[in-house]
Amino acid sequence: MAEERKSIHGTWSSRWTFILAATGSAVGLGNIWKFPYMAGDNGGGAFVLVYLACIAVIGLPIMLGEIMIGRRGRSSPANTMKALAVEANTTPAWSLLGATGALAGLLILSFYSVAAGWALSYVFNGFQNITAESSTTSFNDLLSSPTSLIFWHTLFLSITVFVVARGILDGLEKWINTLMPMLFVIVLLLCLYATQSGAFIQGIIYLFQPDFSKITPEVMLEALGQAFFTLSLGMGAIMAYGAYMPANQNIGKTAISVAALDTGVALLAGIAIFPIVFANGLAASEGPGLVFVTLPIAFSSMPLGVFFGTLFFVLLSIAALSSSISLIEPGVAWLIESLKIKRITATLLLGFVAWFLGLFSALSFNLLSEFTIFGKNFFDATDFLTNQIMLPLGGIFIAIFVGWVMKKENVLEELDVEENFIFKFWYFSIRYISPVMVGCVFLYFFI
Ligand code: PFF
Repeated sequence: MAEERKSIHGTWSSRWTFILAATGSAVGLGNIWKFPYMAGDNGGGAFVLVYLACIAVIGLPIMLGEIMIGRRGRSSPANTMKALAVEANTTPAWSLLGATGALAGLLILSFYSVAAGWALSYVFNGFQNITAESSTTSFNDLLSSPTSLIFWHTLFLSITVFVVARGILDGLEKWINTLMPMLFVIVLLLCLYATQSGAFIQGIIYLFQPDFSKITPEVMLEALGQAFFTLSLGMGAIMAYGAYMPANQNIGKTAISVAALDTGVALLAGIAIFPIVFANGLAASEGPGLVFVTLPIAFSSMPLGVFFGTLFFVLLSIAALSSSISLIEPGVAWLIESLKIKRITATLLLGFVAWFLGLFSALSFNLLSEFTIFGKNFFDATDFLTNQIMLPLGGIFIAIFVGWVMKKENVLEELDVEENFIFKFWYFSIRYISPVMVGCVFLYFFI
């Protein structure tokens, strides 16, 4: 009986908590930092269109699948996959999917923590008398200082380890409950400011008017990878959280809420940022520094800007924290279950690995900038490997597992639905549309 199974790591105290925790995982640097700069790098509207299509057609069905697998298995992704494979009378080697997911999580965490460190350091920016030029210089100064980057990276990762070591079920809930809505309000406020910037319409057109000639294989792969990244899919984060989900919660509605909130925040961030970019004569294709260069200019020229600027970067850091927690949790839960070690030991161990790898990402902007892998520095190479390859590939296998390996009656039982039209539609997407589309984007890109 589904009602009686519980994870040894605990259960979220209410339905609302799962939505908050999953939204906390989904909404993070991916929405506010990465989405705008990727849109800017890839020509705006065309990228946004493909991204939205990937979320709706591929991301949402897979998210539902991941939550469902997690709740049915009630363990870490690796052990969940093993248990469900055994239930379906196939090879337990499916647990490898959970293991590679945990590895992807660590790799992402290593560079995510470096970028989250930038957000932390901007809490102390001051936000006064900032021009386009001085803002660009301060960001470049930060990147060129190995000690600052390592300091902030270390601080951010230590906070992550501290929270995860205490157990993510208590504590986390209260925080996300109030802080996530606050971040939402500040982003809305920035949108309001953007309407006054003088280039609002230009920003909106850039973001929403697709130039179809810009849809290349690269843009498609980047948009696909970003869809997985922003929804925290393809590596078991949402699966691990699903394991702590109450048995009586509706998975479909939950997945839709999380995906909608996440997409909303990303679009609002874009609406806030691009008008400021154009009004200040900055380049949309500024790259990873886009948010860090543009927003301080906005804060320094708005009333109460010091207050709002500081608060914004505090909240952004916390949004990053609620995501980084979910990057390390699949590995931590797995180590606890498999090696029977304490949560604190498991967290310290994996935290150390992520921290160590992160050093190379931090140094790739300065001392190691000459060191490249396929023409990318270490930071970008790790980003490419995880987001554009590992997550979509993980997504294909999750879709295949749900659609072809699990018994249909078990899927129906876990989702607690009849075989109605919506179910059939979703089942068809996860069996055919999601894997085939991800496969096509891969083929298109690599061939
Ligand atoms: N979704 C997070 C963000 O948008 O910032 C990042 C992330 C968290 C990616 C967890 C993957 C993951 F498993």
